Amino acid sequence: MGKYIQSTLISVAELKEMTTRLGQQITADYQDKELVMVGILRGSVVFMTDLMRAINLPMVIDFMSVSSYQGTKSSGVVRIIKDIDVDITDKHVLLVEDIVDTGLTLDYLRKIIMERKPASLAVCTAFDKRAARKIEVPVEYVGLQVPNAFVVGYGLDYQQHYRNLPDLEILADDGVDDE
Ligand code: IMP
Ligand code: MG
Repeated sequence: MGKYIQSTLISVAELKEMTTRLGQQITADYQDKELVMVGILRGSVVFMTDLMRAINLPMVIDFMSVSSYQGTKSSGVVRIIKDIDVDITDKHVLLVEDIVDTGLTLDYLRKIIMERKPASLAVCTAFDKRAARKIEVPVEYVGLQVPNAFVVGYGLDYQQHYRNLPDLEILADDGVDDE
């Protein structure tokens, strides 16, 4: 058996409320500015599409792909697989993440974005797994806190599966190995 979906953690209605709230807050904070929203593939895709439509500002979007995860444990090693195509020099960059766990991915991403001299940088994550943090990293916009469990759905995966589940679910382990 291995992994199975245990229970719904955050419903579709709560996710909708979350993106509306974040969108309003970001719209207010960036009045008269143009945004570059940079989604971190692939986990942020579902959140990104909801969030961008909740923000009422001029914007361009782009995506970046990094690898840091093997199974359910963070390796701490981050590699850029696909970089952004837009020039972010002097631009207001909003990095969009699915979940901040150890913080290692985000810490690394903030550093490489800052090297490109944007006008400003802020991070918006759908979910924050605060208890799992290994490194302190600023997160300006947080959707919802989640417990220190492995979650899937709303774009988040376990071995590339479950991203299409519309709500956020807890993935449990029955103790029997998949392999
Ligand atoms: P961090 O570097 O440990 O903060 O890991 C960040 C990345 O790991 C996220 O962008 C996710 O892709 C992935 N991740 C962390 N926790 C979970 C989880 O509970 N479910 C699915 N993916 C996760
Ligand atoms: Mg992932």
